[in-house]
Amino acid sequence: MPKNFLTTADWTREQLEDLIASAQRFKSGEDASKPLAGKSIALVFFNPSLRTRASMQVGIYELGGNAVVLEPGGTSWTLEHRAGTVMDGDKTEHVAEFVGVLGRYCAAIGVRTFAALKNWEEERRDPVLSAFAEYADVPIINLESAMHHPCQALADMMTIREKFGEGKKRVLLTWAWHPKPLPMAVPNSFALAAAQMGHDLTIAHPPGYELDDELVREINTHAFDAGSTVRVTDDVNEAFKGAEVVYAKSWGSRRFYGTPEDDIEARAEFRQDWIVDEAKMARTTDDSIFMHCLPVRRNVIVTDRVIDSSSSVVIDEAENRLHAQKAVLKLIAECGLRNAE
Ligand code: CP
Repeated sequence: MPKNFLTTADWTREQLEDLIASAQRFKSGEDASKPLAGKSIALVFFNPSLRTRASMQVGIYELGGNAVVLEPGGTSWTLEHRAGTVMDGDKTEHVAEFVGVLGRYCAAIGVRTFAALKNWEEERRDPVLSAFAEYADVPIINLESAMHHPCQALADMMTIREKFGEGKKRVLLTWAWHPKPLPMAVPNSFALAAAQMGHDLTIAHPPGYELDDELVREINTHAFDAGSTVRVTDDVNEAFKGAEVVYAKSWGSRRFYGTPEDDIEARAEFRQDWIVDEAKMARTTDDSIFMHCLPVRRNVIVTDRVIDSSSSVVIDEAENRLHAQKAVLKLIAECGLRNAE
């Protein structure tokens, strides 16, 4: 078993299936175990959150543990993550000591650290999350980094399983217009996990909004191994045809990391065509579902009529964050929190 929960790519399909089954046992009440009794988990937030923070805090409580929530630069010191840096700027503490100290108090560390959308080549390597994983002796749980949001993806896969049962589905990941460029972690992790779980995946986005090339190769490899398909298209209307799962998310173009004003200008022409509305949902199957990780801008990403319809599972999806993360925490606890390697 991997030491950390950084991306679903580190985990086999069988391990992900086991986590989903465990999450379902928590949700049904069959599992009411308290594997974190007497233990604390650190939750480090460089960025805002509703679902991740609340579901982790509640989940740790329900597992019998204690959550230590820290916000670098707010409720804790500003943090430097680069090795060998002369720290004569505005950073007070290095990740090396930060995780070293937390590891003496806490059984695992969750960290949220978004992409700054300034330098694509640097940020695609997930430098802050990688520093946490490199220096920590205890497991690191990715609560959304520059490139991945595995807790969200696990909850998403659980939600699809819950709505449709076992078997592959025709899953559409569709880009949507948003007034500003956003990080790619959610679409990356959703597409990756969908391929790992053997779903037939369509990724729809306008020209210029391609996902990371290496990640797309990885997605294709997982799909090949699972006997499923991956299709990438810029034809948004055609993409919705026959979809059973519609997953909407906006993301920024990697061409414009560092120049967000250019992205805002480039995406303007896609505003009308890329919203998820009833006309597009009418092209999907009768029992199709609409998913979004939330928060979502109503009538920008998705119309009121779609998100308020019976197809929308966004609240179930958010609830499943709680159960999925409890499954991850339980597995880490059972495998020996300090010696999980
Ligand atoms: N989906 C998600 O991660 O929500 P928050 O940003 O509110 O945590």
